[in-house]
Amino acid sequence: MEQNKNTILEIHDLSISFRMYDSRFEQTELKVISDLYLSVSPGEIVAVAGASGSGKSLLASAVLGLLPANASLSGHIHYKGQELTPELQKNLRGGGIALVPQSVEFLDPLMKVRSQTGGRDKAKTAERTRVFKRLGLPDDTENLYPFELSGGMARRVLVSTAMLSSAELIIADEPTPGMSLEQSLQALTMFRELAREGRAIILITHDIDLAFEFADRVAVFYAGTTVETAPASDFKQGPRALRHPYSKALWEALPQNSFRPIPGSQPYPGDLPKGCLFAPRCPMRTAECMEHVPPVRQIRGGEVRCFYGS
Ligand SMILES: Nc1ncnc2c1ncn2[C@@H]1O[C@H](COP(=O)(O)OP(=O)(O)O)[C@@H](O)[C@H]1O
Ligand code: SF4
Ligand SMILES: [Mg+2]
Repeated sequence: MEQNKNTILEIHDLSISFRMYDSRFEQTELKVISDLYLSVSPGEIVAVAGASGSGKSLLASAVLGLLPANASLSGHIHYKGQELTPELQKNLRGGGIALVPQSVEFLDPLMKVRSQTGGRDKAKTAERTRVFKRLGLPDDTENLYPFELSGGMARRVLVSTAMLSSAELIIADEPTPGMSLEQSLQALTMFRELAREGRAIILITHDIDLAFEFADRVAVFYAGTTVETAPASDFKQGPRALRHPYSKALWEALPQNSFRPIPGSQPYPGDLPKGCLFAPRCPMRTAECMEHVPPVRQIRGGEVRCFYGS
């Protein structure tokens, strides 16, 4: 695929496998991400939505170069048009990209909150006071160590760390669980403000509702691949505006829609179907779907990985 000059991050055909040992101590490759694609531009919030285990956190780790040593990776990740190398990733971890990790264990246990959210600098202190206030964190939170924070507070501190950074790209991995509705809305509003300043935001969430309310575009992940990317407005319109059978089924499964669960379950790595990863659950599958991996096609301003999506 051609490089889009406007994107800050562009991912094509990303696959990730883990080297594992089976019960007979033989080495096997466990494929956890297959031909995944994603892009985000300055000023844009792209939500990554998908069930637990669909590869959302691995994507964040792959971009930042934080995959475990037994992981092998193929495909392309470009940052501002440059292929990501371990050296560039190291630089970006120091400033260009801010991660809001899914686990609060990422906070440094030995450093007070102040040092992890911009330090004593006067301008930073004023900004931190403003951010903390909006997220409902008490004033003296900056004097605390991570072990003194509740889970919900720790999560808001992690979000603040990214907000107070000058990163051009923020990857927020499930930033809102443990927050009140008001705090979640406040956090998402602040991400929107950062996007208006020209930052790019990847908002990872298993909450598809939240994704299409706050994002410009939504990427739907399934079993480690991207099945559809669409303008968020298509998700508001409903199944007819969507392109992939899984996205349509996800929409239908929402409580405010038919609340009809999707029969079956997402396949596990190591037990992936040969052709389309959604085929075992797809009401539209044909013999071709079981044999061949469908290509990504551009349709109506979005992308879909399905032979028949329209
Ligand atoms: N270090 C690892 N070794 C083996 N499998 C892993 C590892 N990390 C993640 N996985 C597997 O990769 C898949 C995707 O994981 P993850 O990206 O954490 O999902 P999500 O964030 O969407 O819930 C899951 O099936 C998970 O079990
Ligand atoms: S490629 Fe076939 S099985 Fe896969 S989503 Fe499309 S119709 Fe369903
Ligand atoms: Mg995750």
